[in-house]
Amino acid sequence: MKKTREKLLIWYEKHGRHDLPWRNTDDIYHIYLSEIMLQQTQVNRVQEEYYPRFLERFSSLRVLAEASEDEVLASWSGLGYYSRARNLHKTAKLSKDGLSMCEKELVKLPGIGRYTASAICSFGYKQSVPVVDTNIARVLKRFFALSQTNEKEIWQKAEFFLNYQNPREHNLALMDLGAIACTPKNPNCKECPLEVLCQGKMEPELYTQTKKTEYETLELFYGLFVKDGKVALKTSNGPMYKNMLELPSVDPIEENFVGSFKHSYTKYRLTVNLYTIEEKSDDFEWYELSSIENVPISSLTKKALKFHQHY
Ligand code: ADE
Repeated sequence: MKKTREKLLIWYEKHGRHDLPWRNTDDIYHIYLSEIMLQQTQVNRVQEEYYPRFLERFSSLRVLAEASEDEVLASWSGLGYYSRARNLHKTAKLSKDGLSMCEKELVKLPGIGRYTASAICSFGYKQSVPVVDTNIARVLKRFFALSQTNEKEIWQKAEFFLNYQNPREHNLALMDLGAIACTPKNPNCKECPLEVLCQGKMEPELYTQTKKTEYETLELFYGLFVKDGKVALKTSNGPMYKNMLELPSVDPIEENFVGSFKHSYTKYRLTVNLYTIEEKSDDFEWYELSSIENVPISSLTKKALKFHQHY
């Protein structure tokens, strides 16, 4: 086992993703933020776009804590799963002077589960703790041939396999091995440093869940009302964009039809139909189109607003 752990680190040295910005900082807030962003968003998008931009606006936990929730949501626009942003903000308010170094305390904070707490402790505080995300879980399930298993057992295996000489690099190595070689389909076992002792290598597919994502199709009907450079919006209380601002819903009237487009959001496959509205309502809140970047709206709403230029 010792040899295998060493081979894993040599593989990581050569093939690992060493230039990711959150792996090259000691700032716990930066590391925590990256973990929240990376939960549902691809590494490239986080690295190139959202992570640097968010840090430019909210440079510390304290700055984040002192911002309004709307400002935080506006910066999160396009990333989806907006409860992540709300929890980030709540956690910042509870931890203005810094995040706890204790995993048991971290999991009590909004939006921090066992994975994120362990990632903060391992990658940030350099503690000797195991980390299990979906990539690492797959590697461990194959390596230990765990076909019928549960979270608890996988965490136990992660702890058993942990390299106490170099726990941080070990965890990052397992994560990258899962992302690069020990992939869900067609794993590249020839390249794998764990191959010799891997108990699942004969049937790697046996140790991956093939649970298909179930999509929900929905048709939405929104009203576009722009006047004097301002657009009418409402605070959503639906399940998809709760607390974000969105266009008011309307009943479809054919002669007011503006256009439609497709949009994907989490498990939803949406057809969005847009209509003009002419009647004001007391429910509308009016926002300047020229500073719409500072308003908490989703990419769906941004796409819809582009239509206003065309009618
Ligand atoms: N490095 C540290 N945490 C990571 C994550 N969640 N995804 C990709 N790379 C990471």
